[in-house]
Amino acid sequence: MFSLPQILTTALQVLWLLLPAYTPNNFAVLLGGGKPLDLGRNFIDGKRILGDGKTVRGFVSGVAGGILTANVQFCLECYTGLKIYSSLPYSEFFVLTFLLSFGAMAGDSLGSFVKRRFGIERGGKFPVFDQLTFLFVSLLISSLYPAFWKLFDIAKIVIGILITPLLHVLTNCIAYKLNLKDVPW
Ligand code: CTP
Ligand code: MG
Repeated sequence: MFSLPQILTTALQVLWLLLPAYTPNNFAVLLGGGKPLDLGRNFIDGKRILGDGKTVRGFVSGVAGGILTANVQFCLECYTGLKIYSSLPYSEFFVLTFLLSFGAMAGDSLGSFVKRRFGIERGGKFPVFDQLTFLFVSLLISSLYPAFWKLFDIAKIVIGILITPLLHVLTNCIAYKLNLKDVPW
């Protein structure tokens, strides 16, 4: 049905399209801190709503970082003649990539909300879930915007969901090899 080179080309396109959803958490890690999003409050189960790992500054700088990434991509496309995001009018591109970034940070917070309900402490691992919630929420929110469907289709969404955990494993292995992490997962 699909040839391998076709799948690889599509996978690269999907990576490019999803960069504004992938980068926000990195910006939050770098620039986050200060007042927690849940203002330190507990949920009805007596546990923190989100926990100290989700901060207002992290959320805002994450979304801003995603928008920055997208605009760098837009410029790169204009210089190289690549036509993915730049095939959209700028206003549509801006709204779409804002929604991808905002959705990624909202999904990241939702992930923490669910982790706290399961009694997993801040920073504790919740495999697969940790790596996919942000993506699901990002895709869900941005797919409500019609321009999303000018660039994405079901095949690209499926490829995105499949490559994201792989990418996670790969980047963690690289970080381990570079001695940035103690364990390769
Ligand atoms: N961060 C932040 N604000 C956010 C998201 C992340 O300040 N909205 C920062 C925090 O310093 C956080 C770090 O980025 O500790 C890593 O993010 P993440 O792995 O998402 O949070 P965890 O600390 O693992 O917490 P949780 O268990 O709730 O996911
Ligand atoms: Mg974490």
